[in-house]
Amino acid sequence: NTRVLTGITTSGTPHLGNYAGAIRPSIRASTQAGVDAFFFLADYHALIKCDDPQRIARSRLEIAATWIAAGLDVERVTFYRQSDLPEIPELCWMLTCVTAKGLMNRAHAYKASVDQNLLKQVDPDDGVTMGLFSYPILMAADILMFNANKVPVGRDQIQHLEMTRDIAQRFNHLYGGEYFVLPEVQIEEDVATLPGLDGRKMSKSYDNTIPLFEGGARALRAAVLRIVTDSRAPGEPKDAEGSHLYTIYRAFASTAESAQFRAQLEQGLGWGDAKQLLCERIEQELAPMRERYAELMAKPERIEDILQAGAAKARKLSGPFMARLREAVGLRAPA
Ligand code: TYM
Repeated sequence: NTRVLTGITTSGTPHLGNYAGAIRPSIRASTQAGVDAFFFLADYHALIKCDDPQRIARSRLEIAATWIAAGLDVERVTFYRQSDLPEIPELCWMLTCVTAKGLMNRAHAYKASVDQNLLKQVDPDDGVTMGLFSYPILMAADILMFNANKVPVGRDQIQHLEMTRDIAQRFNHLYGGEYFVLPEVQIEEDVATLPGLDGRKMSKSYDNTIPLFEGGARALRAAVLRIVTDSRAPGEPKDAEGSHLYTIYRAFASTAESAQFRAQLEQGLGWGDAKQLLCERIEQELAPMRERYAELMAKPERIEDILQAGAAKARKLSGPFMARLREAVGLRAPA
């Protein structure tokens, strides 16, 4: 069987980018025959950028509810919280000991922080924690723990996957065995990077997100109305390819519908009407899920039960695998 694995960091409210880039493709993959799926809430990763315990708890609930509302089958998928698996930080340490510092120096997230500091002419390492610096190693532990073959993610995670392969190869080589499978990234080509309101990548850190369920249809609509467009008036032909409104539309429509929308824009559809059509398109897909989401959010105990059961299922694999790895590196293998 093919193993598919992906995670979402529990530091924010799920937005359309998370949905189109990771949640929807991962659920699609999990329903295919011959696939074993592992989906998880990356709450250890959340600690890297968030020191507000309530935010993390709330985000965990929101992301779990989103995933289930979007159709994740909790019987079929191993669905768990990263911090319920003590084997993850254990493996993370083993991998840390074989990972070259130079590899981590090249990580985009770390480099972006350093570049910003250089721009501000302060110490390059200002505000950079070891958590941020070694972030890709924790992600490698997530993936390698279950020997995932495919990892459905947005384009921003490609480098992390390359690093995971590097680290896996290094470990296999050092300890002379095929301990880890080399995972492959799986990118939804139509989505890859969903743009936000201002056209940059949709991201909490840019404050340009369209919320998925929070705030209901009204919040979604209000956000769509704030999508930045050019100043061409109704009646003037629009440049569909150059507009991120069209890019977002494409992520929610069939090829035929997108072609039709594109033709309408090129024939002079006004931006106001275009936004209306975009709203309707997204609503068609999300409205039924939003109801399930609200029901789930009202029952945190139910979600907790699901996550506990998922952790028990995951540990049946991570426990024995970790014992094997401990032995491989010369640590005492637990009885
Ligand atoms: P995170 O929490 O930042 O994002 C979760 C997923 O959403 C995707 N995504 C997007 N896709 C398309 N367009 C966008 N604008 C957009 N914004 C976010 C991300 O690519 C990601 O797939 N490090 C990971 C979480 C993680 C993980 C893992 C993923 C931890 N361990 C192991 C896979 C395997 C992260 O911070 O994603």
